Amino acid sequence: MSPELQLDSHGRLRHLLTLEGLDAGLLTEILDTAEEFDKTLRGPEKKLPLLRGRTIINLFFEPSTRTRTTFELAAKRLSADVLNLQMAASSTSKGETLFDTLKTLEAMQADMFVVRHEASGAAHFFAQHAAPGVSILNAGDGRHAHPTQGLLDLFTIRRYKSGAGRPGPDCFRKLRVAIVGDVLHSRVARSDIHGLRALGTTDIRVVAPPTLIPAGIEQMGVRVCHRIDEGLDGVDVVILLRLQKERMLGAYLPSMSEFHRDFGLTRKRIEALRRDAIIMHPGPINRGVEIEGDMAYGPQSLILQQVQHGIAVRMAVMAMILGPPQRRAADGRRGLRRARSAA
Ligand code: NCD
Repeated sequence: MSPELQLDSHGRLRHLLTLEGLDAGLLTEILDTAEEFDKTLRGPEKKLPLLRGRTIINLFFEPSTRTRTTFELAAKRLSADVLNLQMAASSTSKGETLFDTLKTLEAMQADMFVVRHEASGAAHFFAQHAAPGVSILNAGDGRHAHPTQGLLDLFTIRRYKSGAGRPGPDCFRKLRVAIVGDVLHSRVARSDIHGLRALGTTDIRVVAPPTLIPAGIEQMGVRVCHRIDEGLDGVDVVILLRLQKERMLGAYLPSMSEFHRDFGLTRKRIEALRRDAIIMHPGPINRGVEIEGDMAYGPQSLILQQVQHGIAVRMAVMAMILGPPQRRAADGRRGLRRARSAA
């Protein structure tokens, strides 16, 4: 899958399919834009006219609560018209191909599709076949990528780990991050790792039993730990991942209770963390499996803040791709400078 597909010839975001290949400059620009929108969302007038007259279609072939609703709310806060299609109940179940679904909906003059699909590569497929001027946002494809979740995780980490004042470029460099749980099936883990690496984090541990670690993951620049105490030692950020039972065809684990005993974030393990360590989870949570039930919303947990940040981050991506030309022109000039200085 080619990450270049998502940038236009000026280095400007055209689709968002993966965080792989996006540089620190562009990631920071998205996070800074999201900060602006987050401020607006905390004020009395939450709606902006930036995408008035634009049409955004949410195409969800897999279930979703947070991602779908925050994409919808983000689009509405920007004044776009939004259509939500539950694809299980649509023509694909009558045999229509993805290509024909795309072309049919494009005929309704959609400007952007937000796509979630169980097949890795589905969002790339849409991007390859989209008409000029139509953009694709990947809302999760198989085990491959979930770029807006990666961005909202980066936003949350930067917000809580940059100390007082404006986050400096070094904020990610010194972090120690543990990603714990079902790394094998997790598109969130992959997007988090790409984003953190691009922003300079070098101490990233993936923590799970061997059956839940994908082969070769060290090549992404992470350390594999099969013991949780070693994985959590001294960390600033703990990202928990759901056990994705729906993607587990074989026997990956003896039982949920054994996973909790060996890899769950128990009260005792939370007490052993640094006092300022933060705990995150993309949701949905299996209570009592990844985390002890009554600790899910404890004082170090940012799980609900992540949901809230998802709205500002998704507004940022939509506005940077579809927003008024003067906004995109500025982004494009910066993109071009970045591309030139990298050459
Ligand atoms: C994640 C997803 O769907 O990839 N959830 C989410 O988008 N908030 C993780 C998961 O399903 O476990």
